Amino acid sequence: MSKTAVGAPVAARGVGFDVERIRADFPILRRQIRGRALTYLDNAATTQKPQAMLDALMEYYTTSNANVHRGVHLLSEIATEAHEAARGKVRAFLNAGSTREIVFTRNSTEGINLVAHAFGRWRVQAGDEVVITAMEHHSNIVPWQLLCEERGAHLRVAPIDDSGALLLDELEALLTPRTKLLSVTHMSNALGTINPIATIVKLAHARGVPVLVDGSQAAYHLPVDVRALDCDFYVATGHKLYGPTGIGVLYGREALLEEMPPFMGGGDMIRSVTFEKSTWNELPYKFEAGTPDIAGAIGLGAALDYITAVGLEQIGAHERDLLDYGTAALLEIPGLRLIGTAPHKASILSFVLDGVHPHDVGTIVDQEGVAIRTGHHCAQPVMERFGVPATARASLAMYNTRRDIDVLVAAIRRVQSVFG
Ligand SMILES: Cc1ncc(COP(=O)(O)O)c(C=O)c1O
Repeated sequence: MSKTAVGAPVAARGVGFDVERIRADFPILRRQIRGRALTYLDNAATTQKPQAMLDALMEYYTTSNANVHRGVHLLSEIATEAHEAARGKVRAFLNAGSTREIVFTRNSTEGINLVAHAFGRWRVQAGDEVVITAMEHHSNIVPWQLLCEERGAHLRVAPIDDSGALLLDELEALLTPRTKLLSVTHMSNALGTINPIATIVKLAHARGVPVLVDGSQAAYHLPVDVRALDCDFYVATGHKLYGPTGIGVLYGREALLEEMPPFMGGGDMIRSVTFEKSTWNELPYKFEAGTPDIAGAIGLGAALDYITAVGLEQIGAHERDLLDYGTAALLEIPGLRLIGTAPHKASILSFVLDGVHPHDVGTIVDQEGVAIRTGHHCAQPVMERFGVPATARASLAMYNTRRDIDVLVAAIRRVQSVFG
């Protein structure tokens, strides 16, 4: 095989947006669940995988498997090139200025923890503050709590309104000379709210506050340009980007990454080691200790090729149509309340049904082959804000159809008939 065959082009390239053609690229969508066609509406938890991504993984392990950055033999060279090519694809996908700014992680959670450890321990002192928002996933709360506890610093939380939109004035008021970092989600997994990141970054930078953006949800729904956003850190997670589990990315502004101490120690992240002292490898390897998830990065690269070939603008327009259709259909169901109605939102339909626990909703719709999420969605403070213990959440991806929404609505009506 040629070196370039890893992560080969995709079936969908150049076909425009044809949802049935896209569905055909996702083998799992052909399987039956409990004797019915799968209606997969749990995309905010993880998305399904296109054949081209699966082929890239298989091809890597079948033809190119070797450890990276250490071998003089050809296979190691091929594996290293494929791994670095995947980094290049992530750079292009996020429009970062350099691959030195793209660090491979295990997932978004690890990316945030990396910044909390390496940036946080370097910059945050007793009495300082870290600002987050009331719509964050636990991954963007707990690392900051741990940091603040360790450093004697304080966590401040910008509130949201009843629709789930961020209160920008209140956020701005929290940014003071004590603020050492603002960490904010681009899109809420529990509500669907999309935050105006470029505006938020301007507010923060005007006060000298660096900004980390949690792009776990946004990155597979809308085009992301870290240079246009001007954020300092941006994290994303491969398994939501139609890629494998176990691979994620952290974009970091080069000047900050250069100055930050390492996160984990080990092989690959060093330049030299003696028992007295070690020195660090160049970017981005300083932050990549140990053997990386080589196959995962290559799979992610193939997934990004796939997304790019379909086009995030077109994916966004398709999902917008489904969100509007789904919102209207759900609002016709008596006793259903949508949680998360911000004017700027995407792809999430979180709801509660009068008299039925969300867990029962999830269990009964599963009997109809419909996969949705129920619970607190790793955002317990959001549930508290809306006074509910949990919600049922249908979440959309590029391969969903209006038919999926119709099946969901019929299944919810069945829930209601079971509960009388
Ligand atoms: C907004 C948000 N942040 C962070 C995460 C964490 O992602 P991961 O578990 O892949 O690290 C998720 C996952 O659901 C998410 O939706």
